[in-house]
Amino acid sequence: MDKAKRKAIIAGNWKMNKTPKEAKELLSAMAPLVADADCEVIACVPYVDLATAIEATAGTNIKIGAENCHWAESGAFTGEISTGMLKEIGVEYVVLGHSERRQYFGETDETVNKRTKAALAAGLKPIVCVGELLWERECNITEEVIARQIKLDLWDVTEDELKNVVIAYEPVWAIGTGKTATADQAEEVCAFIRAQLAKLYNQDAADAVTIQYGGSMNDGNADELLSKTNVDGGLIGGASLVAEKFAAIVKAASK
Ligand code: 13P
Repeated sequence: MDKAKRKAIIAGNWKMNKTPKEAKELLSAMAPLVADADCEVIACVPYVDLATAIEATAGTNIKIGAENCHWAESGAFTGEISTGMLKEIGVEYVVLGHSERRQYFGETDETVNKRTKAALAAGLKPIVCVGELLWERECNITEEVIARQIKLDLWDVTEDELKNVVIAYEPVWAIGTGKTATADQAEEVCAFIRAQLAKLYNQDAADAVTIQYGGSMNDGNADELLSKTNVDGGLIGGASLVAEKFAAIVKAASK
């Protein structure tokens, strides 16, 4: 399947930035700039911004995502948010397994898998993040790390459910560091991810999955990264907090 047939998706991951008031301002500034996008446009925002963000983007082409979700329907999980809560207010996507969750909050492949399955069961579309640490790349085990994450994070996810999964390749050493993977490095790992999906499912299923690159993607490097065959979009941190920069990346993906 050629790249043009896959859905290009540019998603902002706002991380712990923007109050509801600021979220409304940013989305209002962004909406007219991305209105003509020929790709899917998503803003993944902090939990408390979700309701405001959904309201502010009603009638626009910007979809709203959360930055995590729990796997249980409800219960004694202080500080957590369920898939049902997200679904009810109109959230469509959810970022799962982000390296910051893995690094600072003890997220493991097992919990990423539980969250992924719960999100899919609730009708949310997970953006599952994978990526190697600098040390792992230096030790030449990038492929082993990625293969393991893909296999475990998607454990028990059916071929039918896979249609609603987006994979984000985010080399940890490139996140927030200003160090972007070269377009060739990004392509190499995104192609490897697709090959793993083909092994776990089949080639057709793998060819249909949108694979994003994330890690210091910005308006200056998006064109080159997105020109690669297996890089179908971007998961954008810092640059998603500036309407014009985010819109320029959306434009690059719309070509
Ligand atoms: P930066 O674009 O700030 O490097 O963040 C990337 C990221 O972690 C997106 O999820």
